[in-house]
Amino acid sequence: MQTAPQPTIPPGPFGFGRDATEDEILAWDIDVDPSGAGLPPGSGAAAEGDQVWRAKCAVCHGRNGEGVAGLSGALVMPYDPEAPWPPFPRTVGNYWPYATTLFDYVRRAMPSNAPGSLSANEVYAVVAWLLHRNEIVAADAVMDAQSLPEVEMPARGRFVQSKEAP
Ligand code: HEC
Repeated sequence: MQTAPQPTIPPGPFGFGRDATEDEILAWDIDVDPSGAGLPPGSGAAAEGDQVWRAKCAVCHGRNGEGVAGLSGALVMPYDPEAPWPPFPRTVGNYWPYATTLFDYVRRAMPSNAPGSLSANEVYAVVAWLLHRNEIVAADAVMDAQSLPEVEMPARGRFVQSKEAP
């Protein structure tokens, strides 16, 4: 009588697969929270961001972040306390509550035809460009893991429930 060959069962709770390596975990572990925890080393300012913008963002969001009909909405429109609430279009300047999560979003999702393709320096630079164009930081402000969490977004107060409109 023949016995079927027994498969070797690897250790572990499921009996298959292997533990993820440290590098594999690091490649996925890219979240940045509102406090700035998770921001990587690197830096960039609006001037370098302009090159990134022209090469990798303008085609869908417009040369000046004004949006392209049928492709995407505007990203640039500075905060105006007199503007009616809710603002339209909703932009980085008039709606986005944290500069840190803007970094997270761009790094994980943009450009939407090649997400994850930007270096940390490119993301810092293009975020600096977006913040500058929305009149939140100066043209030469350098964004990095220290400076980005210190940026006060003008629309932050719009996310706190209050009786008076902000
Ligand atoms: C292939 C088209 C495409 C390209 C290229 C692209 N985006 Fe986008 N982007 C979109 C679409 C579509 C959305 C989601 C719809 C929207 O918010 O307009 C979006 C949304 C965004 C948002 C969130 C808008 C919001 O407030 O919800 C940001 C920020 C952004 N893109 C930044 C960038 C940056 C920076 C680049 C260049 C590195 C870039 N995008 C390149 C198509 C694109």
